[in-house]
Amino acid sequence: MTDTGKIKTGMERRVMTFEYPDDIHPHWKQTSPEFSHIVNAGSLAMPFLEPYLIRSMGIAKKHIKDPKLLAEVEDYIAQEAQHFQQHRRFNDILKARGYRCIDQLEEQLKRDYTKFSQTRSLKFNLAYAEGFESMALAIGHMLIERRDELFGGADPTVSSLVLWHFVEEIEHKNVAFGVYEHLYGGYFYRIFGLLYATLHIFAYTGRAYRALLREDGLWPGLKTKWAMWKQLAKIFWWLGPKFAKPFMPGYHPAKVQDPQWAKDWVALHEQGDDRLNHLDTDHLTQASPAVAA
Ligand SMILES: [Fe+2]
Ligand SMILES: [Fe+2]
Repeated sequence: MTDTGKIKTGMERRVMTFEYPDDIHPHWKQTSPEFSHIVNAGSLAMPFLEPYLIRSMGIAKKHIKDPKLLAEVEDYIAQEAQHFQQHRRFNDILKARGYRCIDQLEEQLKRDYTKFSQTRSLKFNLAYAEGFESMALAIGHMLIERRDELFGGADPTVSSLVLWHFVEEIEHKNVAFGVYEHLYGGYFYRIFGLLYATLHIFAYTGRAYRALLREDGLWPGLKTKWAMWKQLAKIFWWLGPKFAKPFMPGYHPAKVQDPQWAKDWVALHEQGDDRLNHLDTDHLTQASPAVAA
């Protein structure tokens, strides 16, 4: 448990060490270039999106009166800072594979998030942050629940990067909601932020995975389009009920029970289990992470 200047938040500031194999393929889930690139597209956004969340929270901090919430924001910022730095390391590998579209995608993200920070109100930026965090919570639950279907047989390091990120998204699920409620509150604007963040990120992600697949020579091939449609249909089917929760009046992320697998991941990390950096993706059906030899 972290002690941020006296107050314990229950959020840990972890520094992970992911060692990617030299010959790692951008289709790190060999059987699904489509899922690989959906995740790659998300990863490419992180070094722009997460610093934007950190900037918004940094400004919010000056207005927060509750010392416990303040301590949570500090741990939240520390976790998000680790996330985007780790994703940047992975993104550099993707760039080194020669994808020309990445520069343009990054330019667009940089423009959008700089503009939000410079021209939008703090209320908007915090509603966006809470919208993103609600989405991340739903996605985290889905990724863990469906870990074998999604990551089974995939590269252990990339799978571990993604699952670590979402274990921590689950761990800090209450922070953005707490800050938004503390400073502004209000159901309708929160929902506006949720819809805005979701549509903004989904529109970008769609552009990004199509661009990556195009450079692989796979898009707009019919086989790839069909595989992508099936993959997305499954994801939205799995995500639907989880994503509906933040739309309910009276929603609070604290009411969403953490998955046991995520709790076990945290416990294993506390024991110093370094297998969390390279999960055994052939045994993801097991109840706890990294328990295979
Ligand atoms: Fe994150
Ligand atoms: Fe987050």
